[in-house]
Amino acid sequence: MNMDDFNQPQAQAAQWLRTSQRIVAFTGAGISAESGIPTFRDSDGFWREFPPEQFAHWRGLIRTAFTNPVRLAAFVRAVIEPLSVARPNDGHLALRKLEQHRKLIVVTQNIDGLHQTAGNGCVLEVHGSLSEITSLSGKRRRILTTAQIAHITRRLHRIQRRPFALSRLLLAIRPMLGAGLRGMWRPNVVLFGEGLAEPAWSNAVTAVENCDCLLTIGTSGLVYPAAMLPAKAEASGAKVIHIDPTEGGTGLWLRGNAGAVLPPLIHAAFEADINGVN
Ligand code: APR
Repeated sequence: MNMDDFNQPQAQAAQWLRTSQRIVAFTGAGISAESGIPTFRDSDGFWREFPPEQFAHWRGLIRTAFTNPVRLAAFVRAVIEPLSVARPNDGHLALRKLEQHRKLIVVTQNIDGLHQTAGNGCVLEVHGSLSEITSLSGKRRRILTTAQIAHITRRLHRIQRRPFALSRLLLAIRPMLGAGLRGMWRPNVVLFGEGLAEPAWSNAVTAVENCDCLLTIGTSGLVYPAAMLPAKAEASGAKVIHIDPTEGGTGLWLRGNAGAVLPPLIHAAFEADINGVN
């Protein structure tokens, strides 16, 4: 496919990428949608079934544990089950290909680890990572394996009615959340009201302030402070390209799914490099 096959916005985006040296890809839940992980705010989104006021901060989770442990078991299962089977899609793989042509930093709001699995080398997880288990002091960390996630999911599936539901839930999720002789451990994810993951957030702000071009991919841009990154990039003189099925505000928008838009865009932007012709 060459530039003539593209409509104007896509040809412009390819040219911006081609003439940039330092690129940031700022991703949200939308880039993982084609890997089977629900987004949060789409019509079939996660927060429709599990309202954030009940499930997105510790206060609500603790209250639900005591008032409706079966529902909490369903929530934890809905969060972790897709992660145990999700694989990178064409959108993730296109960003790995982009990194073969330009310096790329991926700043993601996602906690699914799919950018790292796809092979990107610099991924800043500003909302943390579900598979990273950390002590409350943050000094000790370990990785929750997909086998452990699958095992936890199987045990959560069996918690369908009340008797002893809370104790069975706590036993099931113990590999990811619990307390022992050496203190508490929890998934290293950022819940509402918590500070963003450091040093990922500070590094993301620096990356955005020093890039030539920022791609926003699959994010509603509603959750701050992460949502301020595109404006910060623009204020620093970077070009901003938005990729999303639903068009938002000002700027250059490529409408469509990440897995459909990114591969031809990256190919067109750098095909001359592949053929050795500039
Ligand atoms: N390709 C690209 N974009 C897509 C796709 C797709 N296949 N499918 C959906 N989208 C877009 C939607 O149009 C929407 O703009 O992805 C975006 C998803 O928005 P949200 O569900 O709000 O997800 P996100 O922007 O990542 O949310 C940010 O909010 O609840 C918190 O911590 C949570 O990290 C999350 C943050």
